[in-house]
Amino acid sequence: MKPSSILALAPFLGVACAQPTENKPPRFDVVAVSEGPVQYYALAQSSSFFYLGQGDGNTDSFCPPKIEKAGRCPPGKDTVLKDAHTLDTVVPGQIIYVDSNYAVRATGPNSGADDEDKDDIDVSTSDGFKHIPGDQSGQWDYQADGVDGFLACPYNNGIYQVYVNSADAKPPRGQKLDTCVPFTAGTVEYKLPANATAAAWQY
Ligand SMILES: *[C@@H]1O[C@H](CO)[C@@H](O)[C@H](O)[C@H]1NC(C)=O
Repeated sequence: MKPSSILALAPFLGVACAQPTENKPPRFDVVAVSEGPVQYYALAQSSSFFYLGQGDGNTDSFCPPKIEKAGRCPPGKDTVLKDAHTLDTVVPGQIIYVDSNYAVRATGPNSGADDEDKDDIDVSTSDGFKHIPGDQSGQWDYQADGVDGFLACPYNNGIYQVYVNSADAKPPRGQKLDTCVPFTAGTVEYKLPANATAAAWQY
């Protein structure tokens, strides 16, 4: 995330929310904006889970070697959403959902339909994700029965794992729920390089 993106989030400081406008960003990065341990940490996808960490380099993405050889890999460095519950990828179908521990997850590429048959994946939970676009910055949110917003739970080395804010959330490694902090997820439009069609090949 560029410093200019962080500046765009500045209005969040001490302010509840930017006014929604018609200016809907086609794709966006997510950054925690609440004051506290995760402030300005960027959302990063890794092995189907989502994390908040300081700086870049926490996102895991994949680009096939033959595409890389041809110099046609998308940037792949940031975790970018193309709408409230879909990762922005060349290979379609990475849907964001909530698992049975209330962790925020994403389905694998090309596997959304198959994954729906697996017990642990309930893609209908995707409906709770909302993106409220703003002028400079917007907000990503989660609202469902008994669940309001997001939680950051300590993972390791200053990295936090992302959950939805449920009293039944089960943080990593049996940690207590009160080690987690609620946070507001700000969004900033992601500018795609002119030669790319998505932010990553796949995550
Ligand atoms: C776009 O151009 C850059 C620089 O030449 C290159 O590294 C990158 O792989 C290209 N991306 C695509 C999707 O063609």
